[in-house]
Amino acid sequence: MTKKIRKVAVIGAGTMGSGIAGQVANAGIDVLLLDLPSEGSSVNALSERGMERLRDPASPGLMSDEAGNRIEIGNTRDDFHKLADCDWVAEAIVERLDIKQDLYRQLNKTCSDDVIVTSNTSTIPIRLLTEGLPQSFAERFAITHFFNPVRFMRLLELVRGEHTRDDIVQMFDTFCEQQLGKGVVICADTPGFLGNRVGVFAIQCALHTAFDMGLSPTEADALFSRPMGIPKTGVFGLYDLIGIDLMADVAQSLVNILPAHDAFHKYGRPLPLMTKMIADGRKGNKSGQGFYREKDGEREVLDLNSEDYVAFERLDLPLAARAERNGVIELFNDNSQYGEYAWRVLSQSLCYAASLVPEIGDDPVPIDDAMKLGYNWIHGPFELIDQIGVDRFIDRLELEGSEVPPFLQKTRGSSFYTVDNTVLQNKWEDGAFHPLIRADGVLRFSEVRQTLIPVNKNASASWFEYEGAAVVEFHSKANALDGNSMHILRDAITQAPKHGLSGIIVHNDAQHFSCGVNLGGVRAFFEREDYDGLDQFLDQDFQQVVLSMRDCPLPVIAAPSGLSIGGGFEVVLHADHVICHANSVMGLVESLVGVVPGGGGCKENLYRWHEKTENMEKAAWNAFMNIGMGRTATSPVLAKQQAMLRTGDEFLMNRDRLLSSALAALPNVKKAAPRAPLSLAGKASFDKMQDWLNTAKDKGMVMAHDVTVGTEIGRIVTGGKCEAGTQASEQDLFDAERRAFLTLAKTPETQARIVSMLDTGKTLRN
Ligand code: NAI
Repeated sequence: MTKKIRKVAVIGAGTMGSGIAGQVANAGIDVLLLDLPSEGSSVNALSERGMERLRDPASPGLMSDEAGNRIEIGNTRDDFHKLADCDWVAEAIVERLDIKQDLYRQLNKTCSDDVIVTSNTSTIPIRLLTEGLPQSFAERFAITHFFNPVRFMRLLELVRGEHTRDDIVQMFDTFCEQQLGKGVVICADTPGFLGNRVGVFAIQCALHTAFDMGLSPTEADALFSRPMGIPKTGVFGLYDLIGIDLMADVAQSLVNILPAHDAFHKYGRPLPLMTKMIADGRKGNKSGQGFYREKDGEREVLDLNSEDYVAFERLDLPLAARAERNGVIELFNDNSQYGEYAWRVLSQSLCYAASLVPEIGDDPVPIDDAMKLGYNWIHGPFELIDQIGVDRFIDRLELEGSEVPPFLQKTRGSSFYTVDNTVLQNKWEDGAFHPLIRADGVLRFSEVRQTLIPVNKNASASWFEYEGAAVVEFHSKANALDGNSMHILRDAITQAPKHGLSGIIVHNDAQHFSCGVNLGGVRAFFEREDYDGLDQFLDQDFQQVVLSMRDCPLPVIAAPSGLSIGGGFEVVLHADHVICHANSVMGLVESLVGVVPGGGGCKENLYRWHEKTENMEKAAWNAFMNIGMGRTATSPVLAKQQAMLRTGDEFLMNRDRLLSSALAALPNVKKAAPRAPLSLAGKASFDKMQDWLNTAKDKGMVMAHDVTVGTEIGRIVTGGKCEAGTQASEQDLFDAERRAFLTLAKTPETQARIVSMLDTGKTLRN
């Protein structure tokens, strides 16, 4: 019997429960969200707070207002009977065994005998959760361990108990992967499952080692971050982000449940300084101060010796930059104290991961997946060992007298991953390589590309022939686009018809599709005062290349995930069809650094608003506001509402399915038609925009330079001082974009904004 999930209830409307309810609603399924009844003016105050959390613009758990409307809120006293006809009840209440068990007993009485119940527990073993409950309940019970924030974190650990039925595990695996968009890792009922077991070890190890070696938070965070392929927050930054008290509790809960011989105990204890900080209320970002704080607009960092805050100074470590470029091997080869720190943290964390095979399973892929999807590591622990080289890694461990885990020792002379006959394989505990098999339709390009030889590649991009199509992959830092990226895109477009391919897919498996044009390149042009060169770059390397996406004979699909902003979004805008991930963030943000979209973004936005509103004045105004404000849409649903995507463009909940869906869609994609000239709104609209800008400046809403930038945007989308109805071709609009871009790039204000963005990551706009 395969059950369908049509109605879901989530119990506990806190951080996780509200997030789970939001993601279920994003998947188009009705949800009932219950919490305890409150005493005050609203009996549903707690579930109302859960909804507020979901609507927080800083981390929007909902893809749209319509998704929010699918959530009915209530409380466990008045609405418990509504659980009777739910297909899945997700429990996300407080981490207390007695309270959870009490709830399960009530659920067992109220719910139908085929409802599936899951717990979001992080630490309580499933056998304890179901102790004393009938077998008929235990066989429909599992742990679904989501990560925070639920919408954005890809990992879902699905833990089965001794009695959980196979059909339920399989159905849930498929449901969570396809409908909730998660990378599902099926785990055994072991403490901390996989993600937290390895992830918390690595964090604790990085923290304690920094203390032991006398490294400052700034130094440790410069290493335990991008140089290791780990998010840039760093270890002390992550402690502040999660909350020092919460992290201490998480570590303590692992100490409580892990067996005495586990290596975690070496690092599980809280540091005396942290205990003091928790007692003084310095608990991290939520209390305004932790290892870092902002004071009078300046960032400060805690001096671990004096325990006073000192001015934060960005540390530009050449070693870190090299490792970010060339990988962890740079850290491994370095003899300085920074290299030593990196080695101690990496060697122990990677060995810890290796020591878990076979305890947690025979195959290292789930551990690598857990770290990549749950902790946003770019490479999993076993992939990192491969990068260093298994033998070199073992040799150094042996040289310093460290223990080598048996699974690692067994792999001596080999690697954890290999490609054999175009099949990606990985080593198992039995010592043999086995093909890495993903669910049907799941294709991660980061894996696929290892089995392919690029047709053409350079430092910023590559293109491949795959399944009869050309796949263009950007791979520069943050996928910032430069002449090299666009050269590869142009080459694929030109060559694909000659290679007899069926179409072109622009796709990559990085965190972000593209963060826009490489501003460093723009800076080099204005620092050389080479404005002809800049004009040529915009025209030849950008506008003409994106135009050729539409004008080439083959269909072009853009399949982005993460951020597609600025120039990255201009590439998406010129594809014939878009199949994007549900968490894609799109928009033209160029005005934030004082320029206009110069690669067809203004043009496309104007055309699309015109198609949507059928009124040129409205279209010009909407384009002016969208581009001038640098607005982004935080979901494809919102992107359609803002005329950034067309109605026929698609989105998928799981980004791992973008490539297979794009390949399947190619034969049916119709080429987008060339754009007919537009009748511009002209002078009256342009004047209205200038009035708006001047008033906004007088009210202090925008800065003087924003008026200059906004004026240029207005000029492009209305035609400026021309008569209403003046015709503009696509090329006229391209030319207007370039003129505006160059005008602005020559101003000291824009140059300062670009330099600030490059040097500090901040705009000067606010
Ligand atoms: P939370 O404290 O934010 O929310 C818990 C909610 O449950 C509260 O709103 C509380 O009023 C409600 N509640 C307590 N007893 C209840 C009952 N008997 N009936 C109905 N509602 C009740 O906690 P959070 O962080 O959302 O954690 C929930 C579960 O998820 C825990 O088991 C936790 O271990 C787990 N978890 C937490 C993660 C996190 O990052 N916060 C990550 C993964 C799992």
